[in-house]
Amino acid sequence: MSDRLWGGRFTEQPDESVDDFGSSISFDQLMADEDIEGSLAHVKMLEKTDILSSGDVKQIVAGLEGIQKDLHAGKVKFSKENEDIHMNIEKILTDRIGPVAGKLHTARSRNDQVATDFHLYLKRRLPKIIDEITTLQKTLVKMAEENVETIMPGYTHLQHAQPISYGHYLMAYYQMLKRDKERFEFNEKHTDMLPLGAAALAGTTFPIDRQYTAKELGFDEVYANSLDAVSDRDFALEFLSNCSILMMHLSRFCEEISMWVSYEFQYLEISDEYSTGSSIMPQKKNPDMAELIRGKTGRVYGDLMGLLATMKSLPLAYNKDLQEDKEGVFDAVKTVLPALKVFNGMIATLKVNKDKMRDSTKHDLSNATELADYLAAKGVPFRQAHGIVGKLVLNCIQTHRDLQDMSLKELQKASPVIQNDVYRELDPEVAVERRNSEGGTGFKQVRAQIERAKHELK
Ligand code: ARG
Repeated sequence: MSDRLWGGRFTEQPDESVDDFGSSISFDQLMADEDIEGSLAHVKMLEKTDILSSGDVKQIVAGLEGIQKDLHAGKVKFSKENEDIHMNIEKILTDRIGPVAGKLHTARSRNDQVATDFHLYLKRRLPKIIDEITTLQKTLVKMAEENVETIMPGYTHLQHAQPISYGHYLMAYYQMLKRDKERFEFNEKHTDMLPLGAAALAGTTFPIDRQYTAKELGFDEVYANSLDAVSDRDFALEFLSNCSILMMHLSRFCEEISMWVSYEFQYLEISDEYSTGSSIMPQKKNPDMAELIRGKTGRVYGDLMGLLATMKSLPLAYNKDLQEDKEGVFDAVKTVLPALKVFNGMIATLKVNKDKMRDSTKHDLSNATELADYLAAKGVPFRQAHGIVGKLVLNCIQTHRDLQDMSLKELQKASPVIQNDVYRELDPEVAVERRNSEGGTGFKQVRAQIERAKHELK
């Protein structure tokens, strides 16, 4: 007979390659705490429902608590022969308290056990990610407040489009993070469901009390269908998808930071604490952290794609493929949390070169829309105004001038409605200040956005 916990119907031991390939203990030991807590709640429920005697439960609880204590002291050793965290802990419990340990697995399967551990694991990490997002949002709001009137070029197609407020730019990322946070909060709802009690796939004949176990473990509700309970990984997919979108947002900002610290732009400077140097070029100051966050975004996408591919053709209910669900999620947690922290530190200590930003809006013809709007406001149909200004722009390009360099006479030749007040509106700062439509870059609008954000963050 095989010496495994499930060895009864086997006459031979598994081949060593099976232990190597099939065991998950190298990574699922990360859920050791959750596994023990799940078992404690389960066994207390078995006592409450008179499925096990109080005497048995007392021994099992004491044994599990002893393992828990030793685990925290780093004194517990796991083995690949015991396959995964669930059987490792059961085996250690058996070694410590004897055959009564075998009663722990009454009315339970590893299928609902592993799903429970995984839910618990994520349920505890989600608030940490949400907290880090909030910290980052606060940093962005603070930076935005300091930069409402910092003028920079706004880009489309990476071409200077219209001048904008840097504060407005920063608040755009605030809004993305707000949606990220809402997605993680929704993810909490689907994680806050207890699979335990589904047993292998079909429920159990024992008179268990799933509501009791849910309460013990702090779950909001229990899965309504036992097949769904053991085979659902939507909560993990949602998590990875949310992480991917969040990382994509950070990555876009990181891309801009990497560009804007370059010699050509010099809009920003990363603090020494968040930069690195070159081993050969003494003058270098590299935006490594921004690049790494951008790079690690790909790896988080990989975590999502991996699990989506694993899930794609799985028949109900449990299949061993599901053991592949954990590493990607662990990896995403291990990547996203520090990425958020480093990103926050990096942007909180960014130096803004306000003059460089502003100066690059002065001679880029990005006030052309102002002139077209000016004409339209005086009754010229916008399409016609666009054409008039287009010709003036061409003239500027040919004569190496800006629109504001043209004399009133020249401008009036293009359109007689133009008066001396046009020059004020061609100033980039005035152009930004005047874009006061709801959600626009006008100073008033940006300030209102910041006020709303502060209220949301309370
Ligand atoms: N290590 C397994 C996993 O992570 C636990 C569940 C095993 N269940 C089974 N029927 N083999 O999925």
